[in-house]
Amino acid sequence: MTTYELDNERIFRGDLLLVNASHPLRAACDRDLRPAFPRWPKMLLRRPAALAVRQTLERIGAGDLIVPVSAYRAPSEQKSLYAAALRKHGEDYTRKYVALPGCSEHESGLAVDLALNVKRIDPICPGFPYDGICGEFRTEAVKNGLIERYPEGKEGVTGIAHEPWHFRYVGWPHAGFITENGLAFEDYIGLLQSDTEPGKPLVTKDRKSGIVNEVFHVPADGGKVTRLTLPDNAVYQFSGDNDEGFIVTLWRREA
Ligand code: DAL
Ligand code: ZN
Repeated sequence: MTTYELDNERIFRGDLLLVNASHPLRAACDRDLRPAFPRWPKMLLRRPAALAVRQTLERIGAGDLIVPVSAYRAPSEQKSLYAAALRKHGEDYTRKYVALPGCSEHESGLAVDLALNVKRIDPICPGFPYDGICGEFRTEAVKNGLIERYPEGKEGVTGIAHEPWHFRYVGWPHAGFITENGLAFEDYIGLLQSDTEPGKPLVTKDRKSGIVNEVFHVPADGGKVTRLTLPDNAVYQFSGDNDEGFIVTLWRREA
């Protein structure tokens, strides 16, 4: 067994941060940003998100058919985007399609807006259909850890309108579970918080490889650190939930 000490500041960092109007970003996210698209050097994402998007585009041979519209936004950019949308489109539209400053996944460096490359691309609501090359992107994206973050029918849960163009990196196995079960990311984090704990994980198995994934939530201890003692037969990844604790993801071989 090994005891891990997680600094409670890490509640606000990681790939599984829940970011929405009631969960603003609390830690700066401008570290580890890199260009995600060879032809668009100013479109930055955090490393795992950049890799996932790039791999997906390469795998489907997207070429110039799909283009990035918006990737990492500095907090000041989200602020001016929100203000400009308010002026141009009014409050109803803005609240539906632009996250409140401080509450946008774009400020986390884990989200990207993509468009089918047509002559006129709407900067706030770009076209990204469910068929053709964009459909292929969706299928491949999940395997690389990306989810469609604002699905149709989940507007009441996410607080944002259906956005077929906005993809968020969450990693594997999370993207697969969320997509297969038709969940919003809010649903998934809620399920982990209420239904899992150390010793009672959400379990998924890959039959081909024999790899077992377990995911569980750990509420943070009061004080500076949270201590977790875990068996040595697995590889672990820790992420804050941007709320009350940590999500532990582990990979191990089937016993
Ligand atoms: N369009 C999404 C909600 C954002 O502004 O982050
Ligand atoms: Zn977006």
